[in-house]
This record gives sequence, structure tokens and C-alpha cells, in this order.
Amino acid sequence: MAVASNKRVIVVGGGLAGLAASVKLAELGVAVDLFSMVPVKRSHSVCAQGGINACNDIARQQGYSEWIHFDETVLGGDFLADQPPVLEMANWAPKIIDLLDRMGVPFNRTAEGQRDLRLFGGSLFKRTFFAGATTGQQLLYALDEQTRRYESEGKINKYEFWEFLWPVVHNGACVGIVAQDMRTMQIRAFRGDAVVMATGGNGLVFGKSTMSVICTGGALSRCYQAGAHYGNPEFIQVHPTAIPGEDKCRLISESARGEGGRVWVPRKAGDTRPPNSIPEAERFYFLEERYPKYGNIVPRDIATREIFQVCQEGLGVGGGNMVYLDLRDKVKEIGREKVLAKLEGILEIYEKFVGTDPLDEPMKIFPAVHYSMGGLWTTFTKDEKTGGLKFGDPKNMSTNIPGLYAMGEVNFAYHGANRLGANSLLSCIFDGLFGGTCIRNYIAEAAPVAAADVPQEAYDAIVKQEKERQDWLVNNQGDENPYLLWQEMGKWMTDTCTVVRHNERLEECLRRLQEWKARYKRVKLSDTGMWTNQNLSFARAVRDMILEAEAILKGALARNESRGAHYKPAFPERDDSVYLRATLAEYDADADEARILYGAVDTSLVTPRARTYGKRESKATDTAPTSATPSAAAAAVTVGAR
Ligand code: FUM
Repeated sequence: MAVASNKRVIVVGGGLAGLAASVKLAELGVAVDLFSMVPVKRSHSVCAQGGINACNDIARQQGYSEWIHFDETVLGGDFLADQPPVLEMANWAPKIIDLLDRMGVPFNRTAEGQRDLRLFGGSLFKRTFFAGATTGQQLLYALDEQTRRYESEGKINKYEFWEFLWPVVHNGACVGIVAQDMRTMQIRAFRGDAVVMATGGNGLVFGKSTMSVICTGGALSRCYQAGAHYGNPEFIQVHPTAIPGEDKCRLISESARGEGGRVWVPRKAGDTRPPNSIPEAERFYFLEERYPKYGNIVPRDIATREIFQVCQEGLGVGGGNMVYLDLRDKVKEIGREKVLAKLEGILEIYEKFVGTDPLDEPMKIFPAVHYSMGGLWTTFTKDEKTGGLKFGDPKNMSTNIPGLYAMGEVNFAYHGANRLGANSLLSCIFDGLFGGTCIRNYIAEAAPVAAADVPQEAYDAIVKQEKERQDWLVNNQGDENPYLLWQEMGKWMTDTCTVVRHNERLEECLRRLQEWKARYKRVKLSDTGMWTNQNLSFARAVRDMILEAEAILKGALARNESRGAHYKPAFPERDDSVYLRATLAEYDADADEARILYGAVDTSLVTPRARTYGKRESKATDTAPTSATPSAAAAAVTVGAR
């Protein structure tokens, strides 16, 4: 299908999803303008460590299949994800690995030269491809090279250090964006026949997380404020294993457990011996004991709750918020060099930030906010013959605003209530590659208007809006430091709306949030210069994060059940009769607040079932924390805290 030469697509976000979409569109002959706040090779995808899931022939010989990958993913997500997009993604996964291999990704190999596989959470099959423990970086660099190739041919125009400010919506369809050059601070509009948001997650709403400091979700929030629905905002992933830090938390990949790392605490509370002098019999391998089938590779929501629980029980290392992650058995089994060949990237991080050698002494880790399952709500068209998606249909990956697409972490589509590790890189690349054709078809034959025909006033109005917003921020005289306001919000959000949620605490946080909204009106910038003003950019995003936090809290408050990462002790069971539905937050601009609506979930391929992971039924302590009200101990156990 030919596309008129004056049509172009805007891609916002230079991570894996944005690059994959740009490359695919360029390959289809569509001109692309690619915007990124940072050099694309510094996008947050570069931090992904452990791997990318797909079936392959070796896994297939052991009984694995694309269908099992699909089934594990929807089970892992506690059945909140629409099933056709998940099936299509699992079916595409093997082709995606082949493509990445051809692009030159240095996947680890077996002695026979096959691409190696490792275990990852939520699966009993080795089905995760990896490049050491820096898989995201290797994938990003490979796609960056493809992007540069199309750039050199004039098919992709790259705008690095440009920040997305607002979508331009004309007669209900998205026809471009307004963005700001973060060096000159120039604000200008760009016409686009379709716009792809590939802007990642919003972990900074929680203050400290494993995410990069650009992951405010500001772009998501601006689309939401412009009328796009924010889907499943309350579903936030807290990764079980991170190094808490003063500035941020640093991920220690699930691949450490996939490769044989064991999580434990001393059996006796108050045992202060160094870990190397605690004998095996005096260690409590709580994941292995409670989940004998999956052991250390239970899905993240479960591992995180279990770690919380042992710390609540006072069994954390030194009585605090820390457990051991131990690779010494693996070193004994295969030797130091072979462990390094698979995990060096993360072992270096640990040694650099903690100071001990993690192959000599167990790592001390704790859960940290890591990923947003929620994001811009998107739709799809099911292919009734395959059960997956209809290839090339312009509705796939489209938000409720025609012409505005969402891909990668900012797309809420695949992970439901809890994402399985190593499905994130897959969903990013799948979105870009599969979605490229859908967008090409949208601009060729489905768009209600060509961007070139939209009156200039539509663009000028948004430029004016953004200049006014900036002028207000630069000139405002008040007593609120935006960084301190953000830190306060992050702490509250982390304490009330992560691993364990209680309605009364969520309500208290929502009350505070109304104060944050009011206090934001008094923010004052420390730097008002108009050259590379990063504090202007951050302060602008603080307001966006407050609005995201409101949607997250309201979504969490309204969902009186436990599902995946959303756990309420007062409602410990999943309740499909009421809550097997997607949360859709809609921004009410007049009231300046979130309204919560619900949408159907497509469960047409597998019937939801209980999510047990072979949990050993016995003592009461085998369950997740059950106190109906937060105890002093529970309140003290908070992610990212030492
Ligand atoms: O633990 C990890 O390596 C993270 C992977 C992921 O979030 O998919």
C-alpha cells in the first residue's frame, strides 16, 4: 500500500519501542520524525538486564510452545490483559529473536553454538534469550544502528533532546505534537499524520525506583490530560530484587535467580552473624520452601510479597528490610568464570554500589518499584481465525484518540495485573514491528484528515498553551520547591500504594494529593534561565505526576480485591464477578480530577483460573501479609527503604 510522499509519522520516545516502530515505518516507506528527551542510546531500555522471552526449537523439544508462552503471560497477569494481543505477541516472539540475531545482537551461545536460554519468573521452561545481563543495552544498540541507517537515507529525522509537551488534536484525531528543544528552549509544533507514544513507564511517581530519572510519565500524563484514557493505572510492578540507594534503586536482575541464585534469611530472628558463617541448615529459603515447584522464580508480585512478609516477621537481615540473594552454590557448581559470562553486568553494579563481591558473599537486596503495567489504554481488532490480532488493522495499538498510538511500556496492553520478567523487551519490539503496518494503513486509508490539510491555527493554539504554561512556571513566585514536593509525594505513594494497600491509607494519600495540587500552584523555580533548563522540565512534570498519582490512587481505591501486584489484605481474593475489567481513568479538565470508568477484558481464549504456582498449603505464615490494618511493623516495611 503506497503512502503519499507528504505524509509522515511522529514517534515520541527513543527506547526500544520507538526505535522498532521507526525502523518498521521507514522500511514501509513512511517518513518518520523521531523525538527523544535524551540521546536514544540513553533511553531507559538500556537498563533492561535479564532477557527477552520467546519459544524456540530447543524449548519446543522440551514441550514448550507459543501457546504456553501466551498462557503463562495471561496467568502471570492474573487474567487482566486482553488475550488476543498477548497471543499475537507470543506468536511473533521467535521471529523477533531471529531478526535481532540477524541485526547482530550478541546473544549468549551454548557450546554447540545455539542461542542459550535461561529460566525466568513464572515459567518452568528455559525460554529467555539473553546477552549476558545487559540484554536491553544490546538490543537498543542494534536497533539504534538500524535507525541510523534509515537516518542516513533521509527516511528518519531524529530530534534528540526534544521534549514532548502536548498532542495536537483536531476534530477528534491526533495530527501532530508540540515539543520543546531542551537546549534552546524553543517550543514549536510538528505536523504528523499519526503520532506514536513510546515514552516508557512512570516509576518516578513513587519517588525512588529502578527507573531512570526521565521516567516521570509526563508524556503519558499530557496525553491523558488531552483526552486519552489511562488504562489500569493502579497496576505497578515492584521488583523483588534491587539495591536500595539514597538517590535511586538499582536493579539486580531476576536472571540472578534464573541462573540459580537463592533467596534466604537467617532462620532465627536477630541472628547477626555474617552470611558466610551461617550454615545451610540455619538458612530459611522461604521461596523454595513455600513454592517448591517454582522456588526462586515465582512471579515478581509473589516473590515481592513474600520478601515483605519475612521482613515484617522480623526475619530480614539484621532485623531490617533486606534479604540475601546468594549465588555461591552456582559458583560451586559451574565455576566463577561461567557465572561471570552470564551475569557480569549486574555483578559489577552490585560491587560498585555496595562494595562486596557478590560471588564471595550473598547480595543484600530488597524490592523496589520497577515497571508500570498500566499506561495509555489501547484497543485492537481480533482475528477470529487465529485468535490473535488482525494484521495491519489500524485499530491495533490505537488509543481512544484516532491517530494517537501507544507502544512499549506506555501501552497498557500485555501484562495485566503483573508482568512476567523478560516480557517487557518483547512487548516493546513487538509493538513497533507489528504496529508499524497498522499505522501505515491508518495514514494511507483510515485517517479522517491529512495533517497537511489541518489549519495552522490548530497548531498555534497548542504552542500558545504551552508557552503560557512555561511563562507561568518561570514567573511564579511561591514557597514550594518542586523537588521537595515530588519527594514527599513519592514517599507517600510508596508507603501507601505499592506492595500492600489499605483503603484508609489510600484515602489519606488522596486527601494529601489535593493539598499537593494546591501547593503546586506555589512552586518556584531555582533556575529561570532559558537555556538547557532541566529544572523547568522537571517542575513541569511534577504537576503531571500528581495527576498520574491521582489516577493510580483512585484506581487502587476502587478495586476491592487482590489481583497480581494489587494486594489488599482486607480483600485477599481475586473477584472476577466484579473486577475482571480494565480500569480506565479519564481526566475531567473542568474539575481537574480523575474519573474512573471500566472496560471489558477479552478472555475469549483461556478461562481465568486460580493462580497458585504450586504453593505449599500448610502454616498460616505461608500466606501473604494478612493484617486488616497496617501494623507498626508493616508501616515500617516500605520498598526502597533500608
Ligand atoms: O530482572 C530483570 O532482569 C528485569 C527484566 C524485566 O524487567 O523484564
